[in-house]
Amino acid sequence: MTQHALETAAWLHELAPEDLRRTVDVLYRVHRLVALVTDLPTLLHSILDESKQVAQAEASSLLLYDEITNDLYFEVALGETGDQSALKREVRLKLGEGIAGTAALQRESINVADARNDGRFFKKADETSGFATRSLLAVPLVDREQLIGVLEVVNKIGGGSFSNADLHVVEMFAGLVATSVSNARLIEKNLRAERLAAIGQAVAGLAHHTKNIITGLSGSVDLMDQGLSQNNSEFIARSWPIFKRSSQRIANFVEDMLSFSKARVPVLESFDVRGVVKEVCDTVSGTITKKSIALNIDVDDVARMIRADQRGIYRVLLNLVSNAADAVPRSGGHIRILAMSADSGALVLEVADNGPGVPDAIARQIFDPFFSTKGSQGTGLGLAVTQKIVVEHGGQITVSRAPEGGALFRVVIPQEREGQEPHE
Ligand SMILES: Nc1ncnc2c1ncn2[C@@H]1O[C@H](COP(=O)(O)OP(=O)(O)OP(=O)(O)O)[C@@H](O)[C@H]1O
Ligand SMILES: [Mg+2]
Repeated sequence: MTQHALETAAWLHELAPEDLRRTVDVLYRVHRLVALVTDLPTLLHSILDESKQVAQAEASSLLLYDEITNDLYFEVALGETGDQSALKREVRLKLGEGIAGTAALQRESINVADARNDGRFFKKADETSGFATRSLLAVPLVDREQLIGVLEVVNKIGGGSFSNADLHVVEMFAGLVATSVSNARLIEKNLRAERLAAIGQAVAGLAHHTKNIITGLSGSVDLMDQGLSQNNSEFIARSWPIFKRSSQRIANFVEDMLSFSKARVPVLESFDVRGVVKEVCDTVSGTITKKSIALNIDVDDVARMIRADQRGIYRVLLNLVSNAADAVPRSGGHIRILAMSADSGALVLEVADNGPGVPDAIARQIFDPFFSTKGSQGTGLGLAVTQKIVVEHGGQITVSRAPEGGALFRVVIPQEREGQEPHE
């Protein structure tokens, strides 16, 4: 047994049976609080409340140490009287100032019976809150040698000073508060570092992709310049498709970034899914023609009129069809687009191709943002955005092997039966 455990046992022996029961009860409750409550302000508030009750005090407060300004400020102040918010706003104690500041500086608990007649007492706190301090117990919060703050209980109910048992119980609470605060800070710090690293990575990827598209744009503009200055229509004719494709890529990329950047509630409207399929095919017509891809579109009559976010469904189909167009072979490429109604009434969209399919090894990653096997030709936002839109509709997206050998993406979008516009 350690020295500390022996000391703890000794003071527990001094307690009257009912005090012992109260102490064990409250320790049990506080340990459960630490395990269950995940948000720090609620946890601190609850522990302060328990400290107040267990020490039979009129008030309790938690001062946290500010490393930058090297002083203590009130984080939580619980009491029946006085202006606690003014205390939190206006009062700061330097290390060594007041009883709390002294406990923090010396890293030792201070138990005073008559605070007002103690030379170290800091009157401003009472003046600000309107509270009259008599007895006071201040316990420093230290975690892994780091000063975290000070826990105080004020005014023993019924007069007199805080007992040795009060001191030990409040010291135990202080240990829990110190660990909770410093763990929460550590988690926050790690999260911030991870977030910054992820943002950095994302920005680098996006900048790289933008640069590639701009290179294509500038190349075509140079070619156009030459064509214009030399009156050479062949140069212009050659540059124009590159220019169109690059501006299309940039528009698409910006749309994907916007769709990805924030949560959206789909704006539901009724529309003919054939119109959206046609728009998608027009958008990718450059690649379709260039690779002579055979398109097979099959929209069943029941599924024609659907209720969904039209721009969202357009983006879903555009991303799936663009991927299929990228995947199919240079010659003999084939893409099948299907819209049908499931038995449940849900809309089912399928895009299948005869490319190489999605290898099992990466099937789990393809929906991750920035996952791409296309190097400089892809950002890896397409499927992440697609999945996000589908999920925002309460739907599902899956990938499997298509009968024609390539990938088969299947999207299911639930349709409300009631309030649905009649089918044509
Ligand atoms: N039809 C498909 N056949 C084979 N692999 C596919 C298909 N669709 C997607 N993939 C794989 O999933 C990856 C992620 O697709 P996603 O659309 O998210 O990004 P991307 O197409 O690479 O880039 P972009 O952001 O320009 O769409 C692709 O890089 C590819 O490896
Ligand atoms: Mg894509």
